[in-house]
Amino acid sequence: MYKRKYIFYLQKIWKAWLQGGFGFASKMVAGHILRNSVSLNERRYMWERRWVRDLRQRSELTVVEIGVYFGDHAEYILKKLDIKQLYLIDPYESYGANQREGDRPRMSSVEQEARARLENHAEVTFIKKYSSDALDSIPDQVDLVYIDGNHAYEYVRDDIANYNHLVKRGGMLVGHDYAWPFPGVIYAVEEFNQETKSKLQLDLHGDWWFLFD
Ligand SMILES: C[S@@+](CC[C@H](N)C(=O)[O-])C[C@H]1O[C@@H](n2cnc3c(N)ncnc32)[C@H](O)[C@@H]1O
Repeated sequence: MYKRKYIFYLQKIWKAWLQGGFGFASKMVAGHILRNSVSLNERRYMWERRWVRDLRQRSELTVVEIGVYFGDHAEYILKKLDIKQLYLIDPYESYGANQREGDRPRMSSVEQEARARLENHAEVTFIKKYSSDALDSIPDQVDLVYIDGNHAYEYVRDDIANYNHLVKRGGMLVGHDYAWPFPGVIYAVEEFNQETKSKLQLDLHGDWWFLFD
């Protein structure tokens, strides 16, 4: 009896789906997104990152981001976390075939836009350098390093190797694009994971992270 009722309701839900109830709802959401012209990049930040939840409880964070581009992610961090100091490292130079940015605007205008966007944040320091040259400009003990610069294996490997020492106990090493178009990111992250036996965590945004206890 109970089972039959269950099946009856399941059929009803299925029928409603077919008749467009859910279709209508998803069209409304899609329509809303299109109407408000939310760019793909902005949509990346509509859902909260899992690692952000762990850091949200803490105050006066010192954070480093490698690879800033238009500053979308930097802005997201500033919105979500209590930031004392945010170091943004980007050379704003064209950086070869790996970049997949041939059709993007010239890097100087990207830089201008990022700076204009974040100009009201006194806690932001731009470091216009390659990450490999920027270590001298960063303090020793930081709460979060976010790696999203050059995605080729050697660069991600070096960013992890150079910057993981800066993360203090309880802090996080995080990065973006652990995903199929970026095997270099995956190799470098997996290598570090195996070498250090740290616990690697992943999410559906393509973020990868290690919490340093
Ligand atoms: C994927 S974009 C960063 C996107 C940004 N994190 C966001 O989510 O809004 C990559 C950026 O890395 C920068 N970049 C490339 N090679 C770099 C390097 N060796 N050191 C630091 N930044 C680098 C590029 O100039 C580009 O702006």
